[in-house]
Amino acid sequence: MQGKKLLVTGGAGFIGGNFVQYMINKYPQYDINNLDGLTYAGDLTKHREIEKKENYHFMKADIADREAILPLFEKEKFDYVVHFAAESHVDRSITDPEIFVRTNVLGTQVLLDAAKQMEVTKFVHVSTDEVYGELELDSSTLFTEETLLQPNSPYSASKASSDFLVRAYHETFGLPVNITRCSNNYGPFHFPEKLIPLTISRVVNNQKVPVYGDGKNIRDWLHVHDHCAALDLVLHEGVTGEVYNIGGHNERTNLDVVKTIMTTLGKSEEFIEFVPDRLGHDKRYAIDPTKLEKLGWKPTYTFETGIAQTIEWYVENKWWWEQIISGEYKNYFKKHYSLDQS
Ligand code: NAD
Ligand code: TYD
Repeated sequence: MQGKKLLVTGGAGFIGGNFVQYMINKYPQYDINNLDGLTYAGDLTKHREIEKKENYHFMKADIADREAILPLFEKEKFDYVVHFAAESHVDRSITDPEIFVRTNVLGTQVLLDAAKQMEVTKFVHVSTDEVYGELELDSSTLFTEETLLQPNSPYSASKASSDFLVRAYHETFGLPVNITRCSNNYGPFHFPEKLIPLTISRVVNNQKVPVYGDGKNIRDWLHVHDHCAALDLVLHEGVTGEVYNIGGHNERTNLDVVKTIMTTLGKSEEFIEFVPDRLGHDKRYAIDPTKLEKLGWKPTYTFETGIAQTIEWYVENKWWWEQIISGEYKNYFKKHYSLDQS
């Protein structure tokens, strides 16, 4: 495949960071540009091993800053944009919704304007299954691309708003877009405020794990590597204007996930602490990925193989997550988790 200029927004975060590494390995002829505002969730130490490569470039910018983004697009003339940059944590959207609107809605619109002006070949908008709302715990219904968008949290409402803007830029201006809606990801470099890395890091450090409510809420888990492969396929083969759901049929209750991690790490369930439920806590998410499978994608990890690989990675790479929870981020932990023993 010919060399292309790829812009990845949010490439210092969890999924964007994995995608940068996936693409640089798979397409050494591509020029990979990582644009990130380096919020609390952005971290460049994950790219220590690729940052000296000639075809990797980092640009610090706020996607909602029109004065910075438009000239950058004019100068760089990207072929492809894969847009991850976002505020991504539901709990934070409950305590501080405004930044979610600014980054996720306005930031996306600024990028769309820039992509339209510079006539990019493809704009892939990385969205989430959470825009569909919630499913009942005892149902077998799955989210399809036709499911009505009924977001419940300020986070998912901001993501749904950005999805509508992406659709509108396609319908109104003919911008060549795809929207992807993936289920919950897990894997290396997952920021330790989310359930799986939070559980692993706390268990390793002999701390209790907060489980919201009764722990029976269900999420549909996908290893980040399989998400990256799906995005690669959609970028190159996705039919312009189409939405693709991404998921691997791995539904688990939160309690199952936490217990699996504890068992693997040889810890007793006494380390589970049930805490008050999240406000508006969505009961169940579950994805029907048939449309993407027809395009040629299938996941390589089961939940069992993926979680084993992930736990091993966190044990071997304590340096990465410890620098996060021992730094500025610690204040957040202290503020939000009164059971923190340190
Ligand atoms: P993350 O929070 O780990 O990373 C977000 C990145 O965006 C960070 O590097 C941050 O610095 C950057 N960023 C935030 N605001 C910015 C701004 N104004 N300008 C520039 N950069 C900014 O998030 P993630 O979990 O990697 O999620 C990435 C994308 O995937 C998001 O759009 C999210 O909605 C979507 N998604 C996530 C999941 C999941 O399970 N984590 C599942 C489906 C979809
Ligand atoms: P999270 O990782 O925040 O992802 P999302 O809210 O986007 O699905 O949470 C996953 C599930 O785990 C969700 O049902 C909330 C629950 N949860 C806990 O029980 N305890 C925790 O400390 C966290 C962060 C999440």
